[in-house]
Order: sequence, then C-alpha cells, then structure tokens
Amino acid sequence: MQIGFIGTGTISAAVIEGLQSLPEAPDIVVSPRSEATSLALAARFAKVRRATSNAEVAKADIVFLGMRPMHLEEAIAGIGFGEGQIVVSMVAGFALSDIQGHWPKARACRFIPLPGVARGIGPMATYPAIPEIVKLFSPLGDLFVVADETKLNFGGLNAFMSAYYELQRALIDVGTSAGVSETDARGFVVSMLGMLAVTAQHTPAASFDRLVEEHQTKGGLNERVRTNLLATGWFDVPAAVLRETTTLNYGKLG
Ligand SMILES: NC(=O)c1ccc[n+]([C@@H]2O[C@H](COP(=O)([O-])OP(=O)(O)OC[C@H]3O[C@@H](n4cnc5c(N)ncnc54)[C@H](OP(=O)(O)O)[C@@H]3O)[C@@H](O)[C@H]2O)c1
Repeated sequence: MQIGFIGTGTISAAVIEGLQSLPEAPDIVVSPRSEATSLALAARFAKVRRATSNAEVAKADIVFLGMRPMHLEEAIAGIGFGEGQIVVSMVAGFALSDIQGHWPKARACRFIPLPGVARGIGPMATYPAIPEIVKLFSPLGDLFVVADETKLNFGGLNAFMSAYYELQRALIDVGTSAGVSETDARGFVVSMLGMLAVTAQHTPAASFDRLVEEHQTKGGLNERVRTNLLATGWFDVPAAVLRETTTLNYGKLG
C-alpha cells in the first residue's frame, strides 16, 4: 500500500512524521511542493519518496490533500482518483460533497489533524469513518470520528492553538514583569500548564466539573483571580471570537 501527499507543507509534514513513527511505517510519496519540506522529508525517512509531479502522487492507494484552500483548484487540476483509491482531504472548507463531486468513484473523507500527530499525541477529527484511515491514525493520538461533517472543527476549537500560546506568552510576561528571569518564568508556566493538562486527562468524566473547585482554596488567590476574570466577561470572549472567526472564514462546514 502506498500513501501520497499532494501539498507537502506544515501539516502534511507532521502527519508524515507520525506515520513514519509507526512500527510498520507505510511507503509514502510526496508532491514536489514545498520543495524544501519534501526534500527534507525524503532525506530523513527511507520510506518517503519525492515525486516529480502531483499527477505522480495521485496514483497512490491513499492520497492526502494538504494545500491551503486558495491553492486547491490549481493543485488538483487534471487529477483523477478512481475506484479502489481513498482521498483524504485536510483542506479547510473543502466539503465532502465537493470532494465526492470531483471524484465520484473514489472513497473520500475529511481529516483534520493537529501538529501533535507528529509525536502521536493530541486530537484529530475525521468524517466519515473509513476503516483504513481510522486504523492508520488511531495509534497516533485521540481520533474523533464525528457524527456529521458540521462537527469536524468542534465549533472552531482547533483554531485556538496559537491563541493558547499567546496566553502562555502573556503569563510568562507576568513572571518576568515581577522580576523573575525569563528562563524561570517560562519553565514555571510551561510546567504549570502541563500539570493542569495532565491532571485533566487523568480525571474521569464524572469528576471533571470538580476540577475548578479542586484547584482553588476558598477565599484564596486562585478563587479571587477566577472571580475577577469572570466579572470582566473574560471567559465569554473565546467562544464569541471562535464562533465569529470560523464561521466567517469557512462557513458552517468548517
Ligand atoms: N497547520 C495545521 O495545524 C492544520 C491542521 C489541520 C488542517 N490544516 C489544513 O491543511 C491545509 C494546509 O495547511 P498547512 O498549514 O500545512 O499550510 P502550508 O504549510 O502553507 O502548506 C501548504 C502546501 O501546499 C503546497 N501547494 C500550494 N500549491 C500547490 C500546488 N499547486 N500543488 C502542490 N502543492 C501546492 C505549498 O507549497 P509551496 O510552499 O511551494 O507553495 C505548501 O507546501 C490547509 O487547508 C489547512 O487549513 C492545517
């Protein structure tokens, strides 16, 4: 079985790195663009080969589409997928009905990985469930097979990654503004956020709502900070921004 990638950019590289970490790493063929990324992948992994054209990649059994939406039409011009092939689109907003409209004989799904797939961690979403794809990615993180296409982006949650790091940056700045060294402030914040994430991962659903209470002393500073942030409406902002931004850009299909 051969796997192809048309559009060898950031997210394709992460998916390829993850796939190459599997005990039975698949043979992969990548499109020549991006030149630097595809050359680097072929140099790093014995089972990754760089093709000379998108059409050459399109002959693979499973073909991932990994370009940005504005480059889609140009990248797939003249490309055909037929019976026995699987098309896996990672392209934001490329609706399943459009994929099926282009290549009615191939099986098709949408797949939204996040960069952690490179190290086998983090969430990914797919629709519909194609057994080969579910089997391929189940070992590489938390794969969510959603009930319908409109749920693929989880209400825009996957657009929160860089904002999370901006928040992390702001917290580190709190430390440095208080005279803590950059190294210590960064180390403290990363360790604290990591600890909170791991705690949440190990908390059963029945106890999940207790995490807030368990991480604040009554009348203590955590409680006061949270109460003050609540009073400013701070926790309502992400939902409003995510809703507005993702709906504006991708429409309801994500
Ligand atoms: N980044 C993420 O975390 C993430 C997660 C899930 C889904 N996605 C989706 O995945 C897609 C790619 O995102 P990305 O962040 O990986 O973008 P990216 O780094 O810009 O990668 C896009 C790739 O497409 C290539 N490309 C452009 N036109 C092409 C053509 N005609 N033929 C072949 N390749 C072509 C680009 O090559 P050049 O550099 O030569 O132009 C580049 O390698 C987007 O639709 C995005 O919404 C991204």
